[in-house]
Amino acid sequence: MMATVWIDGAWYAKSEAKVSVYDHGLLYGDGIFEGIRIYGGKAFMLDGHLDRLFDGAKAIALEIPLARGEIEKIVREGIEREGKDDGYIRLIVTRGVGDLGINLRLCPRASVIAIFDDISLYPRESYERGLAVVTAPTRRVQGDVWDPRVKSLNYLNNVLAKLEAQLAGCAEAVFLNREGYVTECTGDNVFVVKGGALKTPAPWLGLLEGITRNVVLELARGLGVPVEETTMTRFDLYTADECFLTGSGAELIAVTSIDGRRIGDGKPGPLTARLLASFSERVRS
Ligand SMILES: Cc1ncc(COP(=O)(O)O)c(C=O)c1O
Repeated sequence: MMATVWIDGAWYAKSEAKVSVYDHGLLYGDGIFEGIRIYGGKAFMLDGHLDRLFDGAKAIALEIPLARGEIEKIVREGIEREGKDDGYIRLIVTRGVGDLGINLRLCPRASVIAIFDDISLYPRESYERGLAVVTAPTRRVQGDVWDPRVKSLNYLNNVLAKLEAQLAGCAEAVFLNREGYVTECTGDNVFVVKGGALKTPAPWLGLLEGITRNVVLELARGLGVPVEETTMTRFDLYTADECFLTGSGAELIAVTSIDGRRIGDGKPGPLTARLLASFSERVRS
């Protein structure tokens, strides 16, 4: 029996891994998570993911009942048990078991879950051809409601925008914020290339500051590419020379059409290809 899931101190096979129906993660989406890639038998950018997890916990007054080192140990053991070079870890901290009200003070102990599995967000051929995306009618939730920098278990905002993409015959949607500025996609950050410079929305616009996003920014700077974290509207998307998305699940994937406008020559662009090559090298280094 393959042990792939750790829940509050014990390992379970996928089919045996269960949580209480009174867990506030299930009842209210009260909790946080991380999606982490395994490359070459190692958790990629684990430090960055744990920083974000602990910051998110602080922001929502959630006490993680494990020290950072204990989580690192579970991650190492899970990778070893899975025995695969490449894979994906879903790390989850829920508010834990409470009653049927939302009172978090009645949840005495947060639950920690680590799932060791695989992920594939988009069809393989999209990585060669590029994705067609749309801007979502649903706006991104903003920092004055709850901050998208918290990687919260409440993904209804994202799920609804994903549905809007699917209804438009696309695999992904770009969120605008209330002011109409581009923020991110439902599970990825967005970049454009214009006149040789790389641009991506600034975190204060209301988006998850992706670990992959930050790696790509660092790689671009290393290649001498001018980089800007800035405001962008749909105009900047439609008139981009290149566009691509980044995320732990998606890795780096080109976008070749947005709201029916062809991006560049309709094929993944040269800087996108260069950054993808650097990224692939980086994850193996
Ligand atoms: C809404 C959202 N934006 C961006 C990202 C990309 O973040 P990362 O690169 O840390 O995986 C994710 C990843 O899950 C996400 O859910």
